[in-house]
Amino acid sequence: MTKSVFIETYGCQMNEYDSELIRSILRTANYTIVASEDLADVVMLNTCSVRDNANRKIYNRVHEIKNRRPDNPVLVGVLGCMATNFKTQLLDDKSLKIDFIAGPDSYKTLPQLIQEVSETGDKTFDVTLSEFETYSDIMPVREEGSNAWIAIMRGCNNFCTFCVVPYTRGRERSRSPESVVAEVQSLVASGITQVTLLGQNVNSYRHGDTDFADLMRLVSDVPGVKRIRFTSPHPKDFPQKLLRLMAERDNICNQIHLPLQAGNTRVLDKMNRTYSKSEFLDLVDEIRCLIPNVALSTDIIVGFPTETAEEFEDTLDVVRAVRFDMAFMFKYSERPNTLAARRLKDDVPEDEKTRRIMALIALQRGIGFEKNKALIGSEQCILIEDESTKKSDQHYQGRTDCNRIVIIPKGAYQQGDYIRVAITDATPNVLKGVPL
Ligand code: SAH
Ligand code: SF4
Ligand code: F3S
Repeated sequence: MTKSVFIETYGCQMNEYDSELIRSILRTANYTIVASEDLADVVMLNTCSVRDNANRKIYNRVHEIKNRRPDNPVLVGVLGCMATNFKTQLLDDKSLKIDFIAGPDSYKTLPQLIQEVSETGDKTFDVTLSEFETYSDIMPVREEGSNAWIAIMRGCNNFCTFCVVPYTRGRERSRSPESVVAEVQSLVASGITQVTLLGQNVNSYRHGDTDFADLMRLVSDVPGVKRIRFTSPHPKDFPQKLLRLMAERDNICNQIHLPLQAGNTRVLDKMNRTYSKSEFLDLVDEIRCLIPNVALSTDIIVGFPTETAEEFEDTLDVVRAVRFDMAFMFKYSERPNTLAARRLKDDVPEDEKTRRIMALIALQRGIGFEKNKALIGSEQCILIEDESTKKSDQHYQGRTDCNRIVIIPKGAYQQGDYIRVAITDATPNVLKGVPL
């Protein structure tokens, strides 16, 4: 009898993509993928471990899933980044009823793991990290939508001292350009015209003589691709070659996610980011000089160990100077195994971290709002992505080339359509528009 599987995904886009790979692997092994936990014989949580609150959610979810169906047993698997970094804890915690664990490089063994635990009743796991696995041979089973993620590389070698990803996802490795291009071609054939290339640091992409800018050129050359995005580049090695290509190509979106992390050079050094405040600002100048209308977004951490209140002012300073279009802002959360956890005391008090993040959010919110208001009256081309999650099912939400969300009345349009809209209103987070 075939088993049915439900997958719940946490964390970043890389995990979204991995869940699509897992669906493909399981379908090939005769499993049925279902859309609800209640219909599933096996529930898999594809987890994130980047901050502590991500971890806690999973513990609660495992209890919830197991307790909800006491008479109708369900197998629960923990996949993803928690699997690698918390394997021992997950296996040793007797109150946590997990049946199997699989790390990001072990998804091809999932059918065996499930079979083993079904037959023996004993917990099974595979969290081996590979230097080679890129899953290039697996065509992901995507959920409906107008954007497709494509992982072009896996792992990370940067070892930013706060970050757990190099430990959970292992060493950096790149897929062949041929396999990436073939995936893009098949997406276009199936009607998807926006692709987002993913890697922990896309600028480290290298396969033979092909670097990331070369790969972008190849993807941009695929007939029918209308919008190409990528995330994330590291500010330490942003190549001018890529900026020139972005400026030249209409189908590469005018948008760059450039994680700042902190504005103070001493803190950046402690984070092992290998750029200074002024180098970051110079890079932003260079980017804006070559691509004048570019939208910039970023990630920022407040309260990294030893960061003083005065040093935090440098973060505000950079945010004021750059005027990011969007920012993801986090309080530092100590992660086991990282260099920061081993070498530095998490010494910024919680209430001080809260004070800093509130100040940062308030500043960024004001900037985002001003930037959105400046677009009222402009004309934009949007790709319709989905029903509006913010407004109502009578509205669609689309995205501009610069990655701004625009809400429009549904009209006669469909997901995947590109339409011209006039921007009529703005909030700090979204724009409202009417089709032209
Ligand atoms: N590879 C990506 C980042 C992946 S993690 C990149 O370099 O852009 C996404 C974001 O989570 C990071 O950019 C960072 O801002 C945040 N983050 C990572 N570790 C963290 C920690 N220990 N505490 C708080 N935020 C963290
Ligand atoms: Fe983490 Fe740094 Fe690698 Fe990004 S580049 S995944 S922040 S170690
Ligand atoms: Fe992504 Fe979270 Fe892992 S951000 S790489 S799922 S730790």
